Amino acid sequence: MLRINYVKPTIPAQGALLLTVAANRKLGPRGNEIDRKLGGAIKRAMASGKFEGKKEQVLVIPAPAKTRLNRVVLLGIGEPSELTDVICQKAGGAAIVVLQKGNEATATLIFDDYKGMAVDVVTAAANTAFGAKLRSYKFDKYFTKLKDDKKSKLAALDVAGEVSALKKAYSNLEKIADGVFFARDLINEPANVIYPETLANECKKLSKLGIKVEVLDEKAMKKLGMGSLLAVSQGSGFPPCLVAMYWQGNPKAKDKRPLALLGKGVTYDTGGLCLKPRGALDDMKRDMTGAAIIMGTMMILASRKAKVNAVGVVGLTENVIDGLSMRVGDIVKSMSGQTIEITNTDAEGRLVLADAIWYAQDKYKPHSIVDVATLAGAVKMALGNEFGGLFDNDESLRTRLMRSGQSVDENLWPLPLCGAFDKAMDSSIADMKNASDISAGAGGSMGAQFIKRFVKEGTSWAHLDIAPVSFSNKDQPLSPKGATAFGIRLLERFVADYYEAE
Ligand code: BES
Ligand code: ZN
Ligand code: ZN
Repeated sequence: MLRINYVKPTIPAQGALLLTVAANRKLGPRGNEIDRKLGGAIKRAMASGKFEGKKEQVLVIPAPAKTRLNRVVLLGIGEPSELTDVICQKAGGAAIVVLQKGNEATATLIFDDYKGMAVDVVTAAANTAFGAKLRSYKFDKYFTKLKDDKKSKLAALDVAGEVSALKKAYSNLEKIADGVFFARDLINEPANVIYPETLANECKKLSKLGIKVEVLDEKAMKKLGMGSLLAVSQGSGFPPCLVAMYWQGNPKAKDKRPLALLGKGVTYDTGGLCLKPRGALDDMKRDMTGAAIIMGTMMILASRKAKVNAVGVVGLTENVIDGLSMRVGDIVKSMSGQTIEITNTDAEGRLVLADAIWYAQDKYKPHSIVDVATLAGAVKMALGNEFGGLFDNDESLRTRLMRSGQSVDENLWPLPLCGAFDKAMDSSIADMKNASDISAGAGGSMGAQFIKRFVKEGTSWAHLDIAPVSFSNKDQPLSPKGATAFGIRLLERFVADYYEAE
């Protein structure tokens, strides 16, 4: 695990030096000073190749003369006047990939100060370190032998600058990284390790941060009439559970109602009797991503003592096959009292959320609800891998979520709800059905429309369908292949910007 340290702004004696360069090969004051010390090696190296200081460009200068440094790594950050936190983060991500391929145990980052920089130098350096940290994540615990080329010797990134200011700027970012890693670990763990009980145990661990954790077992859920969620779990050998994590960070708030954050926690989705084809089972361990995102977010809010009252509710179950599995045609009764005809056993996420939403409203009376789920493959057809789908009943909530997403580069795009999609969920034998093939391409909308039937009048609600962005088959700027934990940085920002008391 990469450690981030803060050191005084001296030029390191050994290891690797990571130095920022602005667009058009522009060095800052520290860069010029170092270049002079190295006898002009930096400018010569830049002149000899394609490196121009563009965003995320990296140039390695091996074993420069006149020092004991292993290498100087130049890191492009683009135009200083256009710099953002995210540009710094992505640059940090690009740098760490290169640094991890080396033999050094430490690297020192010098973020130079450029004229007209749109982000102050401390924030820029902290965000570069944050990006490096996020991108350095590895899930390699199951390799009993790690090949040398997979091992990284890099243990620490020293950030040079004003130590106390850096510490302050990085402190929240470090907590966010911890929450992101917590969630990525849970998502990357296989379904024989993370199942409802073990996932609930991970929730319980959050109580040491001051979160009140309440676990409803199967018996309690039956008593509450959660026939919708229980239908999904009845084919699994693992008993289901529902966990509420309550963080009261603003006890003096006038409006006592909390913000509710909900997550789909299907620890494995086979599709049930409507069995998924073989290829579609790949990575279905990740169908609990929504729950992991909520858990990671709650962890961050509590660890940085956010002045907000928020409750995270996750419905945990598995969707597998057995003689007792729910069938197509079954009719179940949800906690809300509404009945549901099961028309597709693979549309199980909404069955889980229906009862989780009702419970959250019944018990915690939230002013707003944001649910997060890997609900519909169709969203990927509409949005590719770049956006999460956003559905809502409140335009101002939509704007807040989209803005929060933009500022952390976890982008959402609104998709429609409408009367026709709602009508498509009507059943001829019960109050509604859980899947409809009327507007096949609009699968995301119909899933959202189903969930909306469980949102009480007067409650603001948004549904984030993160099916396309929760997991990546290739490395991303801020995460390696696998779980991205998309949504945590967004929700953290959303709370910080709109729901925290001063
Ligand atoms: N867990 C899946 C959605 C999913 C697909 C997540 C791909 C991540 C990647 C969900 O439970 C599901 O199977 N949805 C169905 C809904 C349909 C049956 C109405 C789908 O998308 O096909
Ligand atoms: Zn499914
Ligand atoms: Zn699913």
